[in-house]
Amino acid sequence: MQSDIERVLFDGPAIHKRLEEMAAQITADYSDRELTVIAILTGSLMFMSDLLRRIPLPLKLDCLSVVSYHGKTQTSGDVIFKQLAVPDVADQDVLILDDILDTGYTLAAVREKLETAKPRSIRVCVLLSKRKQRARDVDADYIGFKIDDEFVVGYGLDFMERYRNLPYVGVLRKELLERMASDDSVMLSQAKHL
Ligand code: IMP
Ligand code: MG
Repeated sequence: MQSDIERVLFDGPAIHKRLEEMAAQITADYSDRELTVIAILTGSLMFMSDLLRRIPLPLKLDCLSVVSYHGKTQTSGDVIFKQLAVPDVADQDVLILDDILDTGYTLAAVREKLETAKPRSIRVCVLLSKRKQRARDVDADYIGFKIDDEFVVGYGLDFMERYRNLPYVGVLRKELLERMASDDSVMLSQAKHL
């Protein structure tokens, strides 16, 4: 698995150091309110668990499972919610957690869906944000790290459901992406879990 990684961007200690800073900021911002965290599965699992343990505030936690149809390493833009019901976040201060902001399709769709439940406020928190032109106009209020537009894996992020358990975030070797991308028939027939 390690040999598939071209280079490590953020190792475990660097991630944890940054999470301390983010948690301190979120704790200060929500000290007078009860937070409702909505985490987007599966990619935000490690991030969610390490971040929330550093926030000493009363909070509620719910998860949303979302699927998008991927061709190669691209999101098509169709975002499908696996739960039919919208979480009941009426009058609550919601913080959406996701692993990475890429095209923006996922976070825009989740945000719009939650807004229908009339929360008091919504903010977005991501571990990573790619520096690129987004397909949807969505931004994050809390960002762990800004990265170039490269495909990364580890610490929750996957390529074809693999590499999520790496303890660091790294760039996947280009040959691997290209080899998989050439086998479109396999990729396009699968719904990928985010
Ligand atoms: P968006 O809808 O294009 O913003 O993408 C959001 C989702 O796509 C993330 O939650 C990830 O699951 C996935 N994704 C986007 N970029 C990457 C990447 O570089 N590595 C792994 N997954 C990614
Ligand atoms: Mg994914």
